[in-house]
Amino acid sequence: MLSLRSIEKTFLTELGTEKRVFKGLNLDINNGEFITVIGSNGAGKSTLLNLIMGSITPDSGTVSLDEKDITRDELYKKNSYISKVYQDPSMGTAPSMTVFENLSMADNKGKKFNFSFGLNQKRKNYYESLLSELGLGIEKQMDTEVRMLSGGQRQCLALLMVTLNKPKLLLLDEHTAALDPKTSKIILDKTDEIVRKNNITTLMITHNLEDAITYGDRIIMLHEGEIILNVSGEEKRKLTPKKLLEKFQTVKGRLNDSAIFTA
Ligand SMILES: Nc1ncnc2c1ncn2[C@@H]1O[C@H](COP(=O)(O)OP(=O)(O)O)[C@@H](O)[C@H]1O
Ligand SMILES: [Mg+2]
Repeated sequence: MLSLRSIEKTFLTELGTEKRVFKGLNLDINNGEFITVIGSNGAGKSTLLNLIMGSITPDSGTVSLDEKDITRDELYKKNSYISKVYQDPSMGTAPSMTVFENLSMADNKGKKFNFSFGLNQKRKNYYESLLSELGLGIEKQMDTEVRMLSGGQRQCLALLMVTLNKPKLLLLDEHTAALDPKTSKIILDKTDEIVRKNNITTLMITHNLEDAITYGDRIIMLHEGEIILNVSGEEKRKLTPKKLLEKFQTVKGRLNDSAIFTA
């Protein structure tokens, strides 16, 4: 289980003022659970993922995984079991390396680099089979530099790369927000497949309410650093974007905020 306990985080803004993002956040996530995270701009969604990833440390409180305190574990250590995909397709891949080089690099994360020609060929075939399942034609571009690929292709590659080593935790920060709806669906379906097949504990931020309902086991809505909605099971399945917006308005009574969501 992933547990966040009494997390407090205040940032110092560029203007020198304090922005208190979390004031005692608690959250428990079961192993293998797939959570979708929604919430208005500035609610603390990305900060939540960064606190788990360890790129940000809380002022107080703990993040623990299977009862082990990982709050202050070094990033390189966390990188071996936590993976993240960002919104920007250029973040997750090395642009001047080929598709094959990117995949082998990811595949070798934490392992000794040792490939023979035969092994290379075998790996190439394996990657080709993974890529061809996506139907985006990337398998035909194994020796192409990644910067030549489309944003959707790069994002797909980034997802495959971070999941090759079957991380324990997968963090997705609006990883399909920059893509067209068709490519976004391909990546979301692939995300779901990978997460389910490997039983990876996953947090996926999205601003698309429909996607937040369609995917995952549980929806969490953040508002000003607080979890104002936490719905799973039958209750989640019965949700609609309209009902989610209504819930949001009921809890906060702030109609104007609904404008930031897209259904
Ligand atoms: N490094 C930082 N320095 C100062 N303020 C920050 C920093 N990171 C986030 N914030 C502020 O914290 C709040 C939450 O940000 P964030 O987690 O990025 O929101 P979300 O992803 O939900 O839109 C925002 O008000 C944002 O401006
Ligand atoms: Mg964000």
